[in-house]
Amino acid sequence: MCGIIGITTGSGPEAGDQSVLDVLVEGLARLEYRGYDSAGLAMVGPLAADGMWRVRAANGTRSLDDLIKGTKDAPGHPSAGIGHTRWATHGRPNEGNAHPHADCTGNLALVHNGIIENHLELSDRLIDDGHHFESETDTEVLAHLVESHLAARPDDRLAGAVRLALGEVRGAFSIAVVHASDPDVIVAARRVSPLIMGVSDGAAFLASDIPAILGLTHDFFILDDDQVAELRPGSISVTTLDGDPVEPDPLHVEWDLDAARKDGFDDFMAKEMHEQPKAVADTLLDRLLPDGTLVLDEVHLTNEEFRSITKVFVVACGSSYHAGLMAKYAIEHWARLPVEIDIASEFRYRNPVVDGNTLVIGVSQSGETVDTSQAVREAKALGAKVLVISNVVDSSMARDADAVLYTRAGPEIGVAATKTHLAQIIALEILALYLAQVRETLSPAEARGLLDAMGALPDKVAEAMERGDAVHAVAERYRTSPSFLFLGRHVGYPVALEGALKLKEISYLRAEGFPAGELKHGPIALVEPGTVVVGVATRTPVWEKMIANIAEVKSRGASVVLVANDGDVETARHADDVLWVPATEHLFAPVIDVVPLQMFAHSMARLHGLDVDRPRNLAKTVTVE
Ligand code: F6R
Repeated sequence: MCGIIGITTGSGPEAGDQSVLDVLVEGLARLEYRGYDSAGLAMVGPLAADGMWRVRAANGTRSLDDLIKGTKDAPGHPSAGIGHTRWATHGRPNEGNAHPHADCTGNLALVHNGIIENHLELSDRLIDDGHHFESETDTEVLAHLVESHLAARPDDRLAGAVRLALGEVRGAFSIAVVHASDPDVIVAARRVSPLIMGVSDGAAFLASDIPAILGLTHDFFILDDDQVAELRPGSISVTTLDGDPVEPDPLHVEWDLDAARKDGFDDFMAKEMHEQPKAVADTLLDRLLPDGTLVLDEVHLTNEEFRSITKVFVVACGSSYHAGLMAKYAIEHWARLPVEIDIASEFRYRNPVVDGNTLVIGVSQSGETVDTSQAVREAKALGAKVLVISNVVDSSMARDADAVLYTRAGPEIGVAATKTHLAQIIALEILALYLAQVRETLSPAEARGLLDAMGALPDKVAEAMERGDAVHAVAERYRTSPSFLFLGRHVGYPVALEGALKLKEISYLRAEGFPAGELKHGPIALVEPGTVVVGVATRTPVWEKMIANIAEVKSRGASVVLVANDGDVETARHADDVLWVPATEHLFAPVIDVVPLQMFAHSMARLHGLDVDRPRNLAKTVTVE
């Protein structure tokens, strides 16, 4: 949610090789998935007019294009710059509210990701002191607060003023600040919202996320909560808010920039769906031994600790929550442990009953979603063992947890989760089987059969992906339908929820997911001739009941699209259209059954002429509560 970037190269004869403007613009393009309500940048240096040059644009998904047009008069050799791509929270998505924000003098510019909770209280005080505010944002207060501290104690320089300012602030932030009077320096800081930094070729840079600056280095430093960094050309120094020096944690990343390119696909979502078989295979890799056992060496919880668990909680949001729901069926069935699953933003504030024998599993692709990261922190504070499933190595949540199980899907840029969702289901199923292994709740023969079935999943996902044209043809038939009901039972229920979420978030069509058995308790009132019902009707122990529920909507005039196993003519008889998928062991079925629903949503969005990678009002990583 909001992306920030910054680079300093200096302007002297040893200035780094990087062009400040190019790095900012390329980085913003790679950060756009974090928000695209507006984009802006500010540069400082001897050649910038008055030492500061700032440009901002707010034109929805075209903001970055407009910003680039606006940079044609940019000064040739700035020494440092900061940039921002916005997902609006406080203040409308217009140019005046776009970052960077300036102080009263116009010498200071600041970008921010997060929310300043006490901004009204602080701005009232600053306005009384004579500061003039120009925007409706919570962020602008930071620019004036730093300005006031800098004016009071100029000898402390920019970093000192930022430290004092942040000491007064409540909320979440990652920020980057430049000042015309010190044009080689960028000061950065964070609390909760992510920030990584790097150094190369006489430059130093920072960003909200790795892909933004992956072209510059593979070695990063992670800024921790309440740390302040001073970036100078070729060096970074970090202190606490009290000014005590600290060594930032290093992070080496193997991904290359290709992973953040479209590779000939029309959009990232298409590319990332295409990568799903590999995401599943890579997530299984080295964890499934040929002798039929599972190893989770990287999960630093002992088997004794796993055996002491009496209850499991899964906390997550959105698609990650749906992956968690699927895991509930697997963990309860195989490991015989009670599982509660909670929307992360609800968990934290409802005084959950957890203790030292509770395993809380936080599921998050980004590892930065603030609702989930706060839920995980709450669980830890309550004494639970915390395991995080994350796709981003060393993400905030991974660092907070007692144990981490990484999905290995590679970077996901499309706003709608696809390959990471499949990888999450696989990671959770691995964990479920591992719990069963240490608790000895499955016989070796049963476990062996399941692990064999698991090993076959990448090929089956690939087979499901090959049906794209057929799925597109079905989407074409329902192109003008305004609303869709998605139904499923048992593990088909979370698949239905995910199918509905994918459709609504990228095609803006009304789509609701329900447990099929619940329909008759109210939602069936929505069904009328022409209503489109999409049912997950692959073979599970409740298949007959699912088919009975489908008959109920069909008899009321619904058009029925069913996800069915290849060759299952009996299921096809109940459908107007069928989305065919290969069969598997029923608790693994979500990994395959969700694939045609992703493709259906993608086709529908394309048929409606929508930008699937940049759906309205959304951002990839949600770092505000
Ligand atoms: C939907 C989607 C979101 C995310 C949710 C959690 O396609 O991507 O619903 O699943 O915002 O994000 P993470 O997994 O990063 O915590």
